[in-house]
Amino acid sequence: MTAHNTLDNLTMLMHRYDGVFVLTDEQVAKCCLPVVLNMYQLSLADTPTLILPAGEEHKNLSSVQRIWDFLFEQGATRNSLLINIGGGVICDMGGFAASTYMRGIHYMNIPTTLLAMVDAGTGGKTGIDYTPQSAEGSIGSLKNAIGVFAEPVETIIRLELLATLPAEQLLSGYAEMIKHAILQGRKQLDELLEYDLRQTATPAFGELIRQSVAFKQSIVEQDPHDKGLRQILNYGHTIGHAIEALMLCKSKVESQKSKAEIRNQRSAKPHGYCVMYGMVAETYLSHLIYGMPAEVVSTLSRFMLENYGAAPITCSDFDDLVQLMLHDKKNKEQGTIVCSLLQDVGKPVVGQPITIEQLREATEYLCSL
Ligand SMILES: NC(=O)c1ccc[n+]([C@@H]2O[C@H](COP(=O)([O-])OP(=O)(O)OC[C@H]3O[C@@H](n4cnc5c(N)ncnc54)[C@H](O)[C@@H]3O)[C@@H](O)[C@H]2O)c1
Ligand SMILES: [Zn+2]
Repeated sequence: MTAHNTLDNLTMLMHRYDGVFVLTDEQVAKCCLPVVLNMYQLSLADTPTLILPAGEEHKNLSSVQRIWDFLFEQGATRNSLLINIGGGVICDMGGFAASTYMRGIHYMNIPTTLLAMVDAGTGGKTGIDYTPQSAEGSIGSLKNAIGVFAEPVETIIRLELLATLPAEQLLSGYAEMIKHAILQGRKQLDELLEYDLRQTATPAFGELIRQSVAFKQSIVEQDPHDKGLRQILNYGHTIGHAIEALMLCKSKVESQKSKAEIRNQRSAKPHGYCVMYGMVAETYLSHLIYGMPAEVVSTLSRFMLENYGAAPITCSDFDDLVQLMLHDKKNKEQGTIVCSLLQDVGKPVVGQPITIEQLREATEYLCSL
């Protein structure tokens, strides 16, 4: 968290700029913007605000164009500040638009989802999804394929903004907190596995968030440009991203069918759900390859089933998942699949190549739950 949580500190920070502009989305504008304006005694009349449609499908170049247009129209200079108020989509996209406007102006994040508080709001990765013009209409967009590294000047975390967040989104962010904890150690992991998630407005939950952010920041400081150590943060994401992409493809195909046919449709899951499924499979891989205690695999599996449900895949999805993993941008050589794994809780290893057979076994385990 940050020293600028108080009104005086934020006001002091904003006075350093000759213009302050706000970016948010339609949903957040309804449930959080009034809270933030009130919190910092700002008025909409004095704070030019751009409200974009909500959702990952708007994390693209045309939204960035709208942000640049807005900044130019409102007279933003090289000494202006953009404040992103929203989830990971707004933080990533606003950060990218600010870092490229007039070769880069400062930006600040006020994350409103748990995922953005503990992950997207810090670490300096900004960007958008990208659909190559030649491929429009044929393939989906490439996630986070265009962007720059640029740290926000501040990330302000206010727990009261979580009050309106749907339970599914809360669990999505919680999965990234579990990821940070399993990379840290047994004490941190147990604390999260035992926490009563209905209590999010408490100092105890604020402390868990603070620890999670501090851990991410300590890793990012050592490897800001993701050349080595930072890749431990990809834990659960090799298999998790493949499940996420597969769900997205299937829900697109199925939404084109008639309603009668989609009674059993598998809908796209929030990112953190897929990370949770990926972490269970990759903890199983860690057990296979490094002897991670079986008890950790079963504890995490139980936690997944109780809170996130079974993974929405079957063994017949295996070939599609492998194809998606072969296209993962983390693989350095064509034809290999690389994971970040754990020798034990708190002992991460990066760049572990995985065989198809090992992957099959881990996927079969996940599907058996
Ligand atoms: N830069 C990074 O390091 C990093 C890390 C992780 C994820 N990400 C990115 O973050 C994005 C996902 O972030 P997200 O899960 O926050 O999604 P999101 O920004 O789409 O927010 C999810 C939904 O919740 C709504 N919402 C936000 N705050 C709310 C609140 N307080 N109450 C009610 N509704 C609210 C939003 O309008 C949106 O509809 C992805 O694009 C991902 O690539 C980036
Ligand atoms: Zn993630």
